[in-house]
This record gives sequence, structure tokens and C-alpha cells, in this order.
Amino acid sequence: MIEVKGLVKIYDDGSNAGVKAVDEISFTVEEGRFYTLLGPSGCGKTTTLRCIAGLEKANGGEIIVAGQKVYSANENTYVPAYRRPIGMVFQSYAIWPHLTVFENVAFPLRVGKEKVSNTEVKKKVTTALEQVELGGYEDRMATQLSGGQQQRLALARALVREPKVLLLDEPLSNLDAKLRERMRFELRELQRRLRITTLYVTHDQIEALSMSNVIAVMNSGVIAQEGGPRDVYLAPKSKFVANFIGSTNQLPGQVISVGSDAMGRVRTEDGEIACAILEGLKPGSNVVVVVRPESLNVHLQKPANSANVLDAKIGAAMFLGEYLDCTVELGHNVLQTHQRHTLEIRRGDPVWVELPPAECMALPA
Ligand SMILES: Nc1ncnc2c1ncn2[C@@H]1O[C@H](COP(=O)(O)OP(=O)(O)OP(=O)(O)O)[C@@H](O)[C@H]1O
Ligand SMILES: [Mg+2]
Repeated sequence: MIEVKGLVKIYDDGSNAGVKAVDEISFTVEEGRFYTLLGPSGCGKTTTLRCIAGLEKANGGEIIVAGQKVYSANENTYVPAYRRPIGMVFQSYAIWPHLTVFENVAFPLRVGKEKVSNTEVKKKVTTALEQVELGGYEDRMATQLSGGQQQRLALARALVREPKVLLLDEPLSNLDAKLRERMRFELRELQRRLRITTLYVTHDQIEALSMSNVIAVMNSGVIAQEGGPRDVYLAPKSKFVANFIGSTNQLPGQVISVGSDAMGRVRTEDGEIACAILEGLKPGSNVVVVVRPESLNVHLQKPANSANVLDAKIGAAMFLGEYLDCTVELGHNVLQTHQRHTLEIRRGDPVWVELPPAECMALPA
């Protein structure tokens, strides 16, 4: 439904080179899917959306939306924003404070190139408001809505032209934590119900992991990794992705051996570790072994028959109700871990920490 090929966007900032905000990115969003661009501030997420929406003219590549080529550098194609079958919700909702709920939603129909009759406007606005459960609020001023309702109003306005594609730029970032959690769920339900192809932008890993079919992790204008939420979380292919999604422990070392099953051994300052080895790494490669805090098991007695069991000492242990947040000190490295709150440990206690090999991954250092 959306195809982006080799998209480049360079902003003119007065310098010779300009700012390369998007650097030849390519991705495809299948019909009905929820696809997320996830990345730190300034990595080019909004720029990518704006190029797709036609609010920004790219400097290279190609964009196809619903089978229509809306931008092509080679063929000099540029379809203006209002002719693209797209609805967009902006990073700041950009709803009109001086208009009622009804007129806010009607706005895209009234300014559109094709004439829409008043009866038609009424029908379309009513449908859009019902879709986001704001039926009955037509005559309120937009400012008299709660944060969550304003967010849904922005959605209704994006939906009113019945777009084939919905672009959402950090739509939940202005909401407080509780409401954000609820809207995450509601937004996803709405998307499923309407089966509308959605391209979502966020820097929030939890939003990305919980809502998406596919996530593209972006870094400095390029896609660092694309995959399902589980893929990018459990099998990051670079240090950047491992660090950006969730917290992670890193043990520097060198590959000793690689087996045929992509498992191998790494020498670290705290001993040898059996772990998965990223494709392409060879004996001698400098790596970091990454392992998630929740993957580690802390034992009071040395477990028999377990691989990767290292001598350690509890550095700090904090009781957080749901779990215990502790640091374990190896000889050289310190690991962060979450353990069950039933584990009774104190600072300085000698323990054994187990790093399950399948959950440890060696990545290029
Ligand atoms: N109009 C502009 N002129 C010059 N540079 C710009 C312009 N808009 C954005 N940039 C630069 O392009 C890069 C990408 O910006 P963009 O807004 O796409 O980032 P983002 O990923 O959406 O970030 P955020 O999470 O903060 O919204 C940044 O380095 C930014 O400073
Ligand atoms: Mg942005």
C-alpha cells in the first residue's frame, strides 16, 4: 500500500551540503498493516512522513501510495498533498481552537479541491466522529475537549476524506502516562476495525513494540533494522538497535569459535560465554555480548548443569514491588538484572549469575 524506494531528503540550511535528514531509505507497508518508524529525536521520522504526505518535496527516490506513483525523482513526478489518498495526524495535533468539533473535522472537506455538498459533509463528519467515539460532541469548541478527546478529534479529521493510508506522527506524545496507555490500545483497536494501512512514527519503544506489525528502527536518516517487534527486541543486529530498544547489558570480548548452528563462544574478561553469534562474525572478531536484564537468572547456590554460570556479587538491590532491580558485579563487568521479588538478597551477597546462551547475542563491537 505504501512503497518507499531510495528516498532522500536534504534540507537547505545555508551550508553547501545541507542537512541530509533522510538518506536513501526503502520500505514497504502492506495493506492493512500497522508499520512503525521508531528512532531517536532528529533521525528523520517526521521528514519521511512529510515526504509521503507530499508536504515536503524529496530530493531522490520514489514513493508509491495505493498503486499511484506520487513522487519519482527520475520521472519528475510530484503529486500535490491534497491529491494523495492520505490522512495525517501531526506531532502537535494542529486542531483549530476557534472552531467547533464539527467544523474541525469538516475542514479538509471544505478546503479540498472537489466540491462536497453540505449534506455530504454532514454525513462524512458524522461517520468520522462516530468512528472515534466522539458522536454527540459536534457543537463543542475543540478546546473544551480533554487531551484524549482532542487526540481522537485529530484522528477523525485525518479519517474524514476516507484515505487509503493513515500517517500518524507521535500522536500520543502530548498525553499523560495513563491516558497514553489507554489510547495506545484504543488506537490499535480502531486501526484493526477500519483495517486502514497505518504508518506510525514514535520514539517510544513501548508504543512501537505493543502496537506494530512491523517496526523499522531508524538512526541518522537510515533504517538500522526492520522486523516484527519480537525480532527487533530479541534479535537486534547492532549495538544501536539493542541499546535503543529496551535496556541491555553489554560484555566486550572476542569470538573464539562459531558453530554451524550460529551458536559459538566468546572470551570476555569475566570468562567464556556461549552465545548466539551474529552472521558474518568470525573467530577473532571484536564483539559485545548483549543480554537483556530479564534474561539473567541469579542463584544463591551454584546451579548444576547450566551453561554460562559466573561468580558474582550483588552490587545493589532495589525492591520495586513488581520485581527486584539489582546490579550484579562480575570481576570486570557489572550487569543489570530484574529478578523475582521473592529472591532475598542484599548488597555484597555472593551469588551465581546464569546467562542463558540462547538469550545472549554477540554483535559487532
Ligand atoms: N525545515 C528544516 N530545515 C533544516 N533542517 C531540518 C528541517 N526539518 C528538520 N530538519 C533536520 O532534519 C533532521 C530530521 O528531522 P525530523 O524532524 O525528521 O526528525 P524526527 O525523527 O521527526 O525527530 P523528533 O523525534 O524530534 O520529532 C534533523 O536533523 C532536523 O534538525
Ligand atoms: Mg518528529
